Amino acid sequence: MLDITHVRSVLSDVYDLAPSATLANEMKDTFARMDRVVSPPDWAIYAPYVRAINALKKERNAVILGHNYMTPEIYHGVSDFVGDSLQLAIKASEVEEEVIVQAGVHFMAETSKILSPQKTVLMPDMEAGCSLAESITADGIDEMRAKYPDAPVVTYVNTTAEVKAASDICCTSSNALQIVNAMESDTVIMTPDQYLAQNVANQSHKNVVFWPGSCIVHEQYTAQDLRDFREWNPGTQLIAHPECPPDVVAEADYSGSTSGIINYVHNVKPEKAMLITECSMASNIADELPEVDFVGPCNMCPYMKKITLEKILYALHTMDGQVEVAEDVAKKARKSVQAMIDLSRKLGI
Ligand code: 13P
Ligand code: SF4
Repeated sequence: MLDITHVRSVLSDVYDLAPSATLANEMKDTFARMDRVVSPPDWAIYAPYVRAINALKKERNAVILGHNYMTPEIYHGVSDFVGDSLQLAIKASEVEEEVIVQAGVHFMAETSKILSPQKTVLMPDMEAGCSLAESITADGIDEMRAKYPDAPVVTYVNTTAEVKAASDICCTSSNALQIVNAMESDTVIMTPDQYLAQNVANQSHKNVVFWPGSCIVHEQYTAQDLRDFREWNPGTQLIAHPECPPDVVAEADYSGSTSGIINYVHNVKPEKAMLITECSMASNIADELPEVDFVGPCNMCPYMKKITLEKILYALHTMDGQVEVAEDVAKKARKSVQAMIDLSRKLGI
């Protein structure tokens, strides 16, 4: 576990990280990307970290891959690329820098390492896990294979390298339906998200059997919540991530991956929108969509929220938090992830 007192003492010996209104003003162009959701005093706190990280990134020949659930100061301030799980996985296989800092959760960093074993992949906090990744081990995949011997295993990227290695192909929320439909067998095993699997099953002709895992953020929403919200605030577009239970997705106006949601809001520009997903999503796009009023709710992912500017700076400064995947596991896991990327490209996703 990261000792934050130690982190602060190491950083304060080297960097001037005191809040600075002067620096905040000098960096006003960066602030303009988030000034609808971040207050000027908070920006004065963040600006010294953003400056230090961006300078250190160049020294270390590093790139920061930021997931759509990062907080705005990470998403807009220091990330070189932002996106959903599929986009970040593809980016990890393409970037030229020697160091990848994963501003996201551990399974994303492992995916980057699997795809770029020669690179140093840094995880700013090793405890940034995922309830889905924790819900299954490779034994769980064996269990499903024993029950459905002829069915291929399609595994969500929100899993450990060992689980990916034991699977046939990976998927993300932006390609799950197409990947399942592309399988030859009539029965397809999906792990570990029961809700994503059921949402896919509702749109597919396949017999989808699944593992009972779930996301602790999205499982909290209920269809009744959405109906109550519509009644309370009529005219709001309800937009849900497919990790939500199927009755929630059925109640929503649109469902898609985090980038699918962002694209939808950009295209439709609803007067009022409620994003049924992690809290930071709405904050990250609030400034680029001033005409959209983002209303309620704010469920945070406790794992994603472990990533902070301070921990990113510490990781880049010390080069601690390097993610390793044993080569025998990585080799098999790479096959599953690469099969997903290749099929997605072929299908034009
Ligand atoms: P996507 O960004 O692929 O939609 O995934 C959401 C998620 O929960 C990642 O942890
Ligand atoms: Fe895992 Fe859910 Fe957090 Fe995504 S939002 S990292 S699926 S717990």
